Amino acid sequence: MLQRMFSALIFLCIMHISLSNEQEIVKTIFKDYEQRIRPVINTSTATVISIFPVYLNVLEMNTAEETVKFSMDYKQTWKDDYLQWNPSDFNGVQYIRVPEEMLWTPDTYLEGR
Ligand SMILES: *[C@@H]1O[C@H](CO)[C@@H](O)[C@H](O)[C@H]1NC(C)=O
Repeated sequence: MLQRMFSALIFLCIMHISLSNEQEIVKTIFKDYEQRIRPVINTSTATVISIFPVYLNVLEMNTAEETVKFSMDYKQTWKDDYLQWNPSDFNGVQYIRVPEEMLWTPDTYLEGR
């Protein structure tokens, strides 16, 4: 019983530590973050956006006209020069989740024929 309480206590402490580490990371990397500006340190550098389809649904297929109409969800990845930290400065935390509204995001749209 005592041992179980003890491990619950350790678990709570670890959770608390990693939560406050995440908050510290967010405070640190978003301090001077400007989400309206493309996140490159050197403006001559291109931001490469990679797009991966994660869900594809065929809505309509017309063999006579050789057309297909579909809807698609996709995942995008890119590098943000400003959102980086050294995990060893934050108790080894390597990943955090933040709301999309906090970030610069690309104005991607897909067009097909
Ligand atoms: C910025 O990037 C360009 C193209 O890669 C390079 O020629 C230039 O030296 C870079 N400027 C700085 C300040 O790093």
